Amino acid sequence: MSFNFDERIDRTGRGSSKWEPKVLETMFGAPDLLSFWVADMDFRTPQPVIDALVEAATHGCPGYTSLDQSFYDAYLGWQKRRNNWDAKQEWYRFTNGVVPAINLLILAMTSEGDEVLIQRPVYYPFTDSIVKQGRKVVSSSLVNKNGKYEIDFEDFEAKCASPTCRAFVMSNPHNPVGRVFTEEELRKMGEICNRHGVFVIADEIHSDLIATHKGHKHVVYATLGEEFEQNCAVCHAPSKTFNLAGLQLSCIMIPNEKVRAKFDAVQFRVGGTSSNYFAPVAAKAAWNHGEEWLEAVYAYIYKNYEYIVDFCAKTWGDKVVVSPLEGTYLAWLDFSKIESDPDKLQDLVRKVAKVALDEGYIFGPEGAGFERINLACPKSLIVELMDRLAAAIK
Ligand SMILES: Cc1ncc(COP(=O)(O)O)c(C=O)c1O
Repeated sequence: MSFNFDERIDRTGRGSSKWEPKVLETMFGAPDLLSFWVADMDFRTPQPVIDALVEAATHGCPGYTSLDQSFYDAYLGWQKRRNNWDAKQEWYRFTNGVVPAINLLILAMTSEGDEVLIQRPVYYPFTDSIVKQGRKVVSSSLVNKNGKYEIDFEDFEAKCASPTCRAFVMSNPHNPVGRVFTEEELRKMGEICNRHGVFVIADEIHSDLIATHKGHKHVVYATLGEEFEQNCAVCHAPSKTFNLAGLQLSCIMIPNEKVRAKFDAVQFRVGGTSSNYFAPVAAKAAWNHGEEWLEAVYAYIYKNYEYIVDFCAKTWGDKVVVSPLEGTYLAWLDFSKIESDPDKLQDLVRKVAKVALDEGYIFGPEGAGFERINLACPKSLIVELMDRLAAAIK
């Protein structure tokens, strides 16, 4: 099957967080920027998903909705096929987002004043969730070795050993640096967490988006062994993978019965939500019929990444470092040798190039001087973006 990812789809007038001029004005100071910030795709979701949604809309009775056996079969089948994970249906918990789930897990597994570990520079809502729940953020920051990020295990263990460190929120694949942690790295981190009683919240929302052709492989944290499985929650969703974020469905897998009970109690307290009518319709169609589309879309996205790597090398030599893209559809670029002041870099990007990017500093101080670019869009947009950046930097 062939897919047309080159088509520019006008998303304005539909409440798109990425493209709505009012949102851009509020967030970035101008309504007419070319937008590459929030992590959704500018591609149409796979045709079988569109067909299933149209059929469900035409049926016309979007009442209260429960997840049925066909939903679980589709998700568990996807995990078995893609990640060889024999997950159990009873581990599943619904939330309408991974971020809400992280908040609930922090509430369930830690107490006020406890420390929660993250690896900066990292997806900024981790910090917000920890702080909002009255917990303390501790970062074992990743070490940047000319664009490739590594874990400082000594530091990681020292942070975990603190008596009040109770949970670790892990982004794997890592947003924004693009790492896909190896089994060895996961095992080493997991052993440290288990040794010190630190609960692992494995946010694997990007785990379907992996540069497998470069030898990278996603390992579901819970597959490392029983002691790892019993001390974690794994968070998945079809939202990033198939561009379904607006339908708000995620898959929170909690293998340990006692942890599940704590999670349920917290969710009950805040008024647990159920799925909307359309989300499981779309998710099932995506998992059951979306694999070919996913392979094709990731190949296209990877080419966008390669275009950026080539462009940077030709334009700025070694002055701009692009981190290797092992997974996710987010490129992470170090502009600090060109402009070391993050405020000036931001002005250059927003006011001169007139593009909306996620500024590196929002991922933590380690990100100052960096820019994150969402690659999931037609190549012509990436070309325009890079031309604008080059002209602005001149
Ligand atoms: C690492 C990570 N976790 C969670 C989310 C958002 O998840 P949700 O929309 O399901 O809350 C994102 C979105 O960019 C993300 O990158």
